[in-house]
Amino acid sequence: MPLSQIYELTHLNLYKALTMTSYHDLIKQRYGVDVFNTEFLENEILTTLLSHRSIRQYLPKSLPSGTLETLIAAAQSAATSSNLQTWSVVAVEEPSRKEKLSQLANNQAHIRQCPLFLVWLADLARLTYIAENLGLPHEGLDYLEMFLMAAIDATLAAQNAVVAAESLGLGTVYIGALRNKPEEVAKVLNLPPHIVAVFGLCVGYADTEVNVAIKPRLPQSTVLHRETYKLETQDAGIADYNQLMQDFYAAQQMNIAGDWSEHSVKRVAFAESLSGRHRLTEALKNLGFELR
Ligand SMILES: Cc1cc2nc3c(=O)[nH]c(=O)nc-3n(C[C@H](O)[C@H](O)[C@H](O)COP(=O)(O)O)c2cc1C
Repeated sequence: MPLSQIYELTHLNLYKALTMTSYHDLIKQRYGVDVFNTEFLENEILTTLLSHRSIRQYLPKSLPSGTLETLIAAAQSAATSSNLQTWSVVAVEEPSRKEKLSQLANNQAHIRQCPLFLVWLADLARLTYIAENLGLPHEGLDYLEMFLMAAIDATLAAQNAVVAAESLGLGTVYIGALRNKPEEVAKVLNLPPHIVAVFGLCVGYADTEVNVAIKPRLPQSTVLHRETYKLETQDAGIADYNQLMQDFYAAQQMNIAGDWSEHSVKRVAFAESLSGRHRLTEALKNLGFELR
């Protein structure tokens, strides 16, 4: 074997050994425990996915030109139900508009701070418009199924944009609070009927002064079911996760009372716990979705 090839192989193994360590470390951070016995496959995309963390503090630095278009190309590359493409996105960069949207979304500062705020839309307006222009019926659009399809399409597109942004070294955070006041958001963005903002997404360079840890997730024993679903067997996994998250909250100095189970159940305890979103059906109807 020529020396150059030996060098290449050694180099490759060395590279693999180095990245394996960090890859295992990412998985360890995701589950909070060593999972060295488990076989995980590895590549650059998986490393990007496993490195995800939401970013809530941004540098006042603009994005390189072409970033928005690249993110949208990634978003449009996601699968879309029947190729109907029932989603759209509004890119908001103007400080005064970001300010208004921030106020409607529980005054979250990161909406004002990020250079690019993307509002992802479930969009049945385009199909309504096309059908009307063709003089064809569009009754199917009045059903809950079509709203759900549009929301799923928008979500898949947005997550592709998130992965693309993170692969480019950018940070993101979703903003579900944009559903607190859907009709007002629609006014700010000049949305016609049959469109609703399903969530926002802050995009920008993370302020690296702020150290954001990878947030652990439930053990796979709770979310991964083989052949049939089992609820009661999740107890041990949930208990382990409660402990893990209490340690995580303490380490991150997060002021969260109780463990993950208590915290999560509080989030769904009452209609008022939904921060205004308990009236979403009414809001959607006001925005032209019949939800039959
Ligand atoms: C649909 C959706 C809506 C969210 N809305 C908000 C939000 O309004 N504000 C916020 O700070 N984070 C929001 N998040 C971020 C979650 O809090 C975060 O993803 C979760 O705590 C897990 O943390 P990680 O993303 O750092 O792993 C949202 C996430 C999703 C998927």
